[in-house]
Amino acid sequence: MNILDIKACKGKRKLSMVTSYDFWSAQIIESSNIDMVLVGDSLAMVMHGESTTIPADISVMKLHVQAVAKGCPSKFIVGDMPFLSYRKDLTTNMNNVESLLKAGAHAIKLEGVDGNQDIIRHTVQSGIPVMGHIGLTPQFVHQFGGFKVQGRNEKAEQALIEQAKALEDYGCFSVVLECIPHTLAEKITHSINIPTIGIGAGAQTDGQVLVFQDLLGLQNQFKPKFVRHYMQGYELIQTALNQYHDDVTHCQFPSNEEAYQ
Ligand code: KIV
Repeated sequence: MNILDIKACKGKRKLSMVTSYDFWSAQIIESSNIDMVLVGDSLAMVMHGESTTIPADISVMKLHVQAVAKGCPSKFIVGDMPFLSYRKDLTTNMNNVESLLKAGAHAIKLEGVDGNQDIIRHTVQSGIPVMGHIGLTPQFVHQFGGFKVQGRNEKAEQALIEQAKALEDYGCFSVVLECIPHTLAEKITHSINIPTIGIGAGAQTDGQVLVFQDLLGLQNQFKPKFVRHYMQGYELIQTALNQYHDDVTHCQFPSNEEAYQ
């Protein structure tokens, strides 16, 4: 997949996207049919145990993009621009975009619209595809007063439709819609000509993105309404670890066949 293929899917077939933060998961994704990979700043929470995405910085993102790019060389990789990495000034933005592209990303994603016009235009005019992200943009968590569904009243709805149109106008090749009512996601999807990729935005978007660990059920502390567990990964791994522990403590591992003669 490249951005032409991605854009051409609009209205024809849905796009699948999943996050990856490391070489190991990227290798599995490489062997799958998944269309696109997002090295999301959610890695701050999923991989580093933070309570928000704010602690992610460009050096951490670069390290994870490098690992993912080695694991899935044939997939379209979007690198997430972390908190404030694109808002300080255009030069800082471009240096950070350069870091992610040189680490192996094919596109970058950034959150929000207001104040991002020059950043997005300049990045796109420099030959770098940009994915927008509106709705529940986690880097705005403190302004939103928590991780809350967005676009719940008419004014907020209209604002999000206008934001999506602006992102298309600035040159984005697609836009993530996170945690908004499904009816609004559908309206946005029909208002713009670039693919919408939903997470917690219902079934009418042009594609879906989920966090790898969520879709495999690898974390069982918290399951948002929009997540589907395609396997019970946490319990499977826990059972395997306990089996190993029992085998070791009961002298059942290793066997003679598992030892050098
Ligand atoms: O960082 C991330 O994983 C994301 C997705 C939830 C869209 O931005």
